[in-house]
Amino acid sequence: MKKIVVLTGAGISAESGINTFRDADGLWEGHDVMEVASPMGWERNQELVLDFYNKRRRQLQTVDPNPAHKALKELEKNYEVHIITQNVDDLHERAGSKNVIHLHGELKKVRSTFDEDLVLDWEGDLVAGDFCEHQRQLRPHVVWFGEAVPMMQPAIQITMEADILLIIGTSMQVYPAAGLLHYAPEGIPVYFIDPKPAVKETRHLKIFSEKASTGVPKLVKELLQDSE
Ligand SMILES: NC(=O)c1ccc[n+]([C@@H]2O[C@H](COP(=O)([O-])OP(=O)(O)OC[C@H]3O[C@@H](n4cnc5c(N)ncnc54)[C@H](O)[C@@H]3O)[C@@H](O)[C@H]2O)c1
Repeated sequence: MKKIVVLTGAGISAESGINTFRDADGLWEGHDVMEVASPMGWERNQELVLDFYNKRRRQLQTVDPNPAHKALKELEKNYEVHIITQNVDDLHERAGSKNVIHLHGELKKVRSTFDEDLVLDWEGDLVAGDFCEHQRQLRPHVVWFGEAVPMMQPAIQITMEADILLIIGTSMQVYPAAGLLHYAPEGIPVYFIDPKPAVKETRHLKIFSEKASTGVPKLVKELLQDSE
């Protein structure tokens, strides 16, 4: 089976009802990202940061995977599919995708502020006073601006082994995630689906300037036909 690597960003979840970040003038749900997604913001106002991610976590219960997430699951019929997502939602998993790497963490996990490797599954709200086994505050398991991206190394490795690369709904402005494109083997087909694509078309890079919910199922259909 050929290996398809899919890099997804906030745009793939937009039509499920989760707002993207850059479409709203650089604010994330009305907040400056440095307020809610940086170690400095956390130092300044833990209550605000906890409340922000509690709202995001609660929102997950009100949204569902859309046709784009579901089509990527279909692709597994004839391909080995690896999804590398910048999203912290769980919509790829809920669509049934088998191999999902979360580059920027997951809303439904929290971690210790004492030991970053101490990660716990979390469903409800996280509040001040929720401690790890070392009696230290738990924080959202989300990679904030300025923090290391531990999943980058496995993501690079998988991208280097890709036969086909799909990039869906990302402004390609958040590094190091955006740099993954450059690890794809030279000359493999790359497809970019985004209504406002951030890259230019080349001989090997084909752009579909459209929404994920229509663009992804169309491309998946073509790829499945090609493999039969
Ligand atoms: N769903 C989530 O988990 C979520 C939501 C908002 C922000 N974030 C975080 O913020 C960071 C933002 O970076 P990013 O590049 O992922 O997002 P971004 O907000 O910077 O860019 C969103 C991209 O999605 C595109 N888009 C909008 N509607 C679309 C649609 N219907 N179909 C396809 N594409 C569409 C936009 O044109 C844009 O290029 C990420 O690292 C992520 O962790 C996550």
